[in-house]
Amino acid sequence: LMADSLYIINGFAREYFSNTLFNTEEGQNVGLSYFEERGFTQETIRKFQLGYSLNTWDAFTKTALSKGYNLEYLQKTGLVTVRNEQPGDNYRGRVIFPIHNQSGKVLGFGARILVKNDRAPKYINSPENEIYVKNRVLYGTYFARHAIDKLNECLLVEGYTDVISLHQAGIENVVASSGTSLTQHQLRLIKKYTNNLTILFDGDNAGIKAALRGLDMAIEEGLNVKLVLIPDKEDPDSYVQKIGADAFREFIASNKQDFVLFKLQISMQDAGNDSNRKSQLVNEIAETISKIDKTEDFTRQQDYIRQCSQVLKIDEQGLINLVNKFIR
Ligand code: UTP
Ligand code: MN
Ligand code: MN
Ligand code: MN
Ligand code: MN
Repeated sequence: LMADSLYIINGFAREYFSNTLFNTEEGQNVGLSYFEERGFTQETIRKFQLGYSLNTWDAFTKTALSKGYNLEYLQKTGLVTVRNEQPGDNYRGRVIFPIHNQSGKVLGFGARILVKNDRAPKYINSPENEIYVKNRVLYGTYFARHAIDKLNECLLVEGYTDVISLHQAGIENVVASSGTSLTQHQLRLIKKYTNNLTILFDGDNAGIKAALRGLDMAIEEGLNVKLVLIPDKEDPDSYVQKIGADAFREFIASNKQDFVLFKLQISMQDAGNDSNRKSQLVNEIAETISKIDKTEDFTRQQDYIRQCSQVLKIDEQGLINLVNKFIR
C-alpha cells in the first residue's frame, strides 16, 4: 500500500537524519551544537528523534535510492525533489523535527534553517500526502497523550520547539498547532483525551486572532477553553528557558483566564463608546454562549451569562433571551 510505503520511507529518513546528527562531523559541529545552544539535552534530542540533514545536493537521495526506495514515493514524502531531471535532497543543512502520529509513526518532517534569512523559509514542512494531512495533525500528540489524559488538560502552543522545551521542563501535556489556526479535526483529536484546552500564545500577534477565530468552534465541540498570554517577544520555549520550569508553572497557574471572558474584554475595549458596535458585540457573545451544550454543561452556560452580563453592563434576563434566540 502507498501509505505503508510512505511510513517506511519516513522511518528510514528519521533514522538517517538522527545518524547524521550524532555520527557525522557536520552533524555534530552544526546540528548538535545548534540544539545544545538552544538548551536541548541529549535525552530530549533522542526522545523527539531530532536529526540533521547534510548541506549537500543529494547525500540522502543517493543513500535512499541505493537502498532500493522508489523515487516516486521518495518525492511524495517531500524528502526528494527533482530539478532538471536530477533527484536531490529537499532538506539541506537543516535541523530535522519528525512529526509523529498518535502511535509514534513518522508522518512527515519539519526542517529548520540554522540561521534565519529572507531568502529561505525558516521551516520547510512535508507536503501533504496519503499519510500527512496537516490540518488533522497536532505536533507532539504521541509524546503528550498520557499526560493529557492523566492531567485532564491539554496545553496548546504554536511551535515544535515550544512542545520540546516544555517537555524538557517536565510539562508534558502539550501539543502544537504548528502555526495554523485550529481545525475541527484537531479539536476532536484533543477531545479524545480531555475537554479542557489551555492555549499558550504570544500576546502580541496573529496567533491570538487565529485562536479567537477558532473559539466558537472549540466551544461547539464542547471544549472548555482557557488562555495564557505569554509576555511580549517570548514564546513558551524561550520563556521557560529564561525563567525555569518552576517559575513557568507558577506563571501558567496564575495567568490562566477564561477565553470567552477574555474575548469579551478585548472586544469591549475595541468597541469603546460606539453603541452600534456594542450591540453587535452583545449579539456575538450571546451566540458564543448559545453554543455551549446545555445538556452537557448547564451551570457553565449560566455562569457565562451572569459574568458576561456584568462585563457588558446589561440585564441578565435580556442576555438569556438573546442566547435562547440563537439556540433554535
Ligand atoms: P514560530 O515562528 O513561532 O517558530 O512559528 P518557533 O516554533 O518559535 O521556532 P523557532 O523557535 O524560531 O525555532 C511557529 C510554528 O509555525 C510553523 C512551525 O510549525 C513553527 O514551529 N512555521 C513557522 C512554519 O511551518 N514555517 C515557517 O517558516 C515558520
Ligand atoms: Mn483515559
Ligand atoms: Mn509567534
Ligand atoms: Mn521559538
Ligand atoms: Mn514561536
